[in-house]
Amino acid sequence: MQSKMAPRWYVIEVSTAETTNQEATEQSQVMMSSVKVECVVKMNTLIGEGPVWEESDQMLLFVDIAGQKIHRWSPATNQIQSMETGDTVGFAVPRRSGGYVAGVGRSIVAVDWSAQMMTSLVDVDENKPNNRLNDGKADPMGRLLAGTMGKEKRPTQVEKKQGSLYSVNSDLSVTKHLSQVDISNGLDWSLDQKTIFYIDSLALTVDAFDYDPSTGHLGNRRVVYRMEEGEGFPDGMTVDANGHLWVACYNGGQVINIDPATGTRLQTVTLPVMKTTSCCFGGPDYSDLYVTSASLGLAQPEISHQPLAGSTFRVRGLGVKGRPSHSFSG
Ligand code: BGC
Ligand code: CA
Repeated sequence: MQSKMAPRWYVIEVSTAETTNQEATEQSQVMMSSVKVECVVKMNTLIGEGPVWEESDQMLLFVDIAGQKIHRWSPATNQIQSMETGDTVGFAVPRRSGGYVAGVGRSIVAVDWSAQMMTSLVDVDENKPNNRLNDGKADPMGRLLAGTMGKEKRPTQVEKKQGSLYSVNSDLSVTKHLSQVDISNGLDWSLDQKTIFYIDSLALTVDAFDYDPSTGHLGNRRVVYRMEEGEGFPDGMTVDANGHLWVACYNGGQVINIDPATGTRLQTVTLPVMKTTSCCFGGPDYSDLYVTSASLGLAQPEISHQPLAGSTFRVRGLGVKGRPSHSFSG
């Protein structure tokens, strides 16, 4: 059934703050001597998430899951446009036919940004009313992959094994690929599109599956990286133009760069916030790494130590580039 919702929409200007990535620089003097971390969208989102670089408009799209908002930030003007979604929003992904597709509550909705309207396309987890959509991304063919999770009492304290991973085809048919997921996170694909990288955060691993781009079938699950003590929970992730992974570490205050072929950590980028949630490459030549963060669940003393919690950061000087994102074909 289709339903229409009219959310509120507004534009604000945001301030920026800069920090140098001293710790990371010290860890790896030669490789990272010119790495710079800037806070570009200073905003206390509850759960900033799902950054996507929109090449056509040179803007960064991201969501605030618990804050129930979709944001678009322009580096050129430093303006941010925001839209309220009226429920949690796990992701927003550009749609080939225009606007976005977003995961609002348990509904996959079409977002008409210029009219500020949402139209529900299809629901998932209909038998699990407490569940909600979490991270989602379009595959290279334009299929939407999106996961769900159970009710979260406090960040990471979730009703276990309630989530699933789905794909939504262009005709809006839905396929369930995985069930018994704790917190569905982290999607991206290898350069040859034959592998999907996936994260169920509470498993503390980054996994890979064989992926068939023509059918969307997933098989042969294996672990490519196991989180080390102090690294936090693996969360959102992006694959760079060399095929290496950049994994945001929730409660780890860092993004780690992994070679999935060897399972080794190549670089570490330390951020001035602990709840780093996701990342994507963007900018005119895809050499800027954008990193989102969360503030939900921080106690007051922690917030005073991390005043930028919930903000979005830009990391420059990594010496690698990313790839353009894909749009949903439905
Ligand atoms: C998830 C959120 C979750 C948070 C902490 C994030 O990556 O996307 O849904 O609340 O991690 O668990
Ligand atoms: Ca996430």
